[in-house]
Amino acid sequence: MTINIILLGPPGAGKGTQARRLVEDRGMVQLSTGDMLRAARSSGTEMGKRVAAVMDRGELVTDDIVIGLIREHLSAGGQGFIFDGFPRTLPQADALGELLAETGMQLDAVIEMQVDDEALVRRITGRFTCGSCGEVYHDETRPTKVPGVCDVCGSDKMVRRADDNADSLKTRLLEYYKKTSPLIGYYYAKDRLTQVDGLAEMDQVAAWIAQALDT
Ligand code: AP5
Repeated sequence: MTINIILLGPPGAGKGTQARRLVEDRGMVQLSTGDMLRAARSSGTEMGKRVAAVMDRGELVTDDIVIGLIREHLSAGGQGFIFDGFPRTLPQADALGELLAETGMQLDAVIEMQVDDEALVRRITGRFTCGSCGEVYHDETRPTKVPGVCDVCGSDKMVRRADDNADSLKTRLLEYYKKTSPLIGYYYAKDRLTQVDGLAEMDQVAAWIAQALDT
């Protein structure tokens, strides 16, 4: 069965972590606008250059750019799409509804991952990822088994994001509360919303998400 879902939550809520599990466990396709924008930056495209400073400040990139990125990737959905970090504004949510309808797909669930601000700061400031395969780690809650070596692919290229600092994080949180949190009511009214406690252990969060997708 094909399922399309949104993972909704503030920066550091665990969206990327849970999306990667769903890809592995269910063969779903992760569509992360953050990853797409970072790829555009590192490949030096015109668009990548334009958005770099905006991302580093922690502000949202314009709706037309991210909607365009999602439109480009909405094919070959495997067992369904996981929208990770998209939509983030009401116009993006409307656009997603239209794009899915155009391609004969539907949105099955929106999982809101709830985490308090103090925990988000700890998570973001301790996060690092494998520069080769993208696996996500944390200095305290999910260190690599061998220091500095990725558990998944064995690479020793670990990276920290330019926007994972206290100043950008404040802006990212403000952007979330001002522009993204209205989507909680939007999807509640559409009868698609499931809320999970994102402060729980990663395995427990994964179990709740699985339960929401299987009912
Ligand atoms: P994006 O890349 O989407 O970043 P984000 O939303 O800020 O989310 P994060 O990736 O920081 O966090 P996450 O929820 O994925 O958490 P993770 O799983 O890594 O966006 C970056 C920027 O791009 C934006 O600021 C904006 O400029 C632009 N952008 C992107 N999309 C856009 C859009 N649609 N519109 C406009 N602009 C857009 O987990 C965090 C840490 O916590 C990790 O270290 C992890 O190991 C740990 N952790 C995870 N779960 C748990 C747990 N249950 N317990 C303990 N630790 C945990």
